[in-house]
Amino acid sequence: MRLDARGPEAEPVDLRTDLPHSARMYDYWLGGKTNFAPDRTLGEMFEQQIPSIRTMARENRRFLGRAVRYLAGEVGIRQFLDIGTGIPTEGNTHEVAQAVAPESRVVYVDNDPIVLAHARALMAGGEHGRTAYIHADLCEPGKILADPVLAATLDLDQPVGLTLVAVLMLIADADDPWSLAGELMDALPSGSCVAVTHPGADFDPAAMARIAEAAGQGGMTLVPRTREQVARFFGDWELVEPGVVPVMGWRPDGEAPADPAAAYYWSGVARKP
Ligand SMILES: C[S@@+](CC[C@H](N)C(=O)[O-])C[C@H]1O[C@@H](n2cnc3c(N)ncnc32)[C@H](O)[C@@H]1O
Repeated sequence: MRLDARGPEAEPVDLRTDLPHSARMYDYWLGGKTNFAPDRTLGEMFEQQIPSIRTMARENRRFLGRAVRYLAGEVGIRQFLDIGTGIPTEGNTHEVAQAVAPESRVVYVDNDPIVLAHARALMAGGEHGRTAYIHADLCEPGKILADPVLAATLDLDQPVGLTLVAVLMLIADADDPWSLAGELMDALPSGSCVAVTHPGADFDPAAMARIAEAAGQGGMTLVPRTREQVARFFGDWELVEPGVVPVMGWRPDGEAPADPAAAYYWSGVARKP
């Protein structure tokens, strides 16, 4: 399938709907409609290994909402860089941030053509805030940072909320996701914060190993990582309470969940000193 999503002047985009893709599988688990047969097939294979996979996707998404609300509310951050945006769904970063502070500005970054195709839905910033979208790869942080759209939307002299939510597991160790995240974090000023979630290798190691293998057979990189490996993404930034914890246990709304480890994701937020 080819889709021209960016207007008459843009090159048509090949969505490669013959291959499973992380953004569309995630959309499938969240109950969205932007997914195709290979996404559903691999998504169901994952679900056989981890029956709670849909809950995990939902809980990951809820974390994004809580983290952005915390950053906009308690910390007072007014600009966000959301990398690995995903297909727009409920509670997109700009909606959450602008509900707290209407003047919030958000730059979204994703490398999937289908996310680009839906980017207009993300552009509907509020009356006072702004949103922008950059089609780029987390594996090239220099390009993201040098993109004129970023400079036109965010002031890198002021604190930025960087979100790397459910994206770093899609980057192989060989591509050193720690350095890639570090390059972005280094470019941000003191007072900036980073929010990370990552599927954990240490909740149900056998099941996670099986889904990583199934992903590989489907042509997709998916690397579950241990708590220690996830904690390393924060570098020397100061973790806010409660630190690196299962995603359901990070500052839950209302009552603490009975079993926070029921969703196999690590999560945390840290602040640059
Ligand atoms: C599982 S979704 C997560 C969406 C959203 N962050 C959330 O947690 O609700 C992962 C997203 O990361 C994007 N992605 C994967 N690899 C990427 C890369 N190297 N650079 C930029 N985006 C990437 C995918 O296209 C997809 O939209």
